[in-house]
Amino acid sequence: MTLTSSAPAVADSPAATAVPPGIELREVSKQFAYRGGQLLALDGVSLSAARHSFVSLIGPSGCGKSTVLRLLAGLETATSGEVLIDGAPVTRDRRRQPLGIAFQDAALLPWRTVRQNIALPGEVIGTKSSPAQIDALIELVGLQAFADAKPRQLSGGMRQRVAIARALVTEPEVLLLDEPFGALDDLTRRTLNLELLGVLERKPATTLMVTHAIDEAILLSDTVVVMTPRPGRVLAVIDIDLPRPRGLEVLASERFRALEAEALRLLYGGMEQA
Ligand SMILES: Nc1ncnc2c1ncn2[C@@H]1O[C@H](COP(=O)(O)OP(=O)(O)O)[C@@H](O)[C@H]1O
Ligand SMILES: [Mg+2]
Repeated sequence: MTLTSSAPAVADSPAATAVPPGIELREVSKQFAYRGGQLLALDGVSLSAARHSFVSLIGPSGCGKSTVLRLLAGLETATSGEVLIDGAPVTRDRRRQPLGIAFQDAALLPWRTVRQNIALPGEVIGTKSSPAQIDALIELVGLQAFADAKPRQLSGGMRQRVAIARALVTEPEVLLLDEPFGALDDLTRRTLNLELLGVLERKPATTLMVTHAIDEAILLSDTVVVMTPRPGRVLAVIDIDLPRPRGLEVLASERFRALEAEALRLLYGGMEQA
């Protein structure tokens, strides 16, 4: 939801305060036990994604980006601080907080077909999708010819398409994406970037995406959060004020290039301080 600048004092209106952020971390720290000692992965990270907005997380390798997603998915517990989804603390009960998750490694079940892999989350949480809904998702990610193929028969890019379709099958309120397009060639990556934009226009979800591609982060996001090298802290929050709907023409705009330059400066400046 975008608040226009013409609406005065909108932050104080009941409508604005009634909707909690889709995703929120408050002063979150995470320590791992490592080689008999402690490793501080996240140090007081606060970030927030307005409901149904798209936020990207960028930062050097090892700065804790995946840890942020794992905390939101309930796969790790914060050492201190609060992790909230739609205003409620994260629980391990997925039925109460349907999440769509697509991580770096597609992690498909090798003995299941594309269709069966996509259907899996619905079966697990007991909201089975109809064959027509599954077909629509398969078509969305362009895998009609491979609906009954097994993962080993697919390329890496195709497996990632399956993972994205699977993340969307429960029509989640919150989508967590960990470098979902990282292993794809540039052309496929762009195609899937645009498809994801289209999907989210039709079925909005609060989305947090980790990526190492700055251009992809800017193309897709409302907000880009730049993290410091480990221990991960929030270095900067960049508001991506490009109009929507967005297409590839955005990549050539002056404003896009300025945002990209700013993100690069923050990212590499942050690394020099390390
Ligand atoms: N389960 C774990 N045990 C110990 N250290 C971990 C564990 N998970 C992550 N780490 C460490 O925490 C830091 C952040 O990891 P991660 O969130 O994967 O970073 P990123 O995704 O930004 O590359 C890294 O130094 C990593 O080695
Ligand atoms: Mg990672």
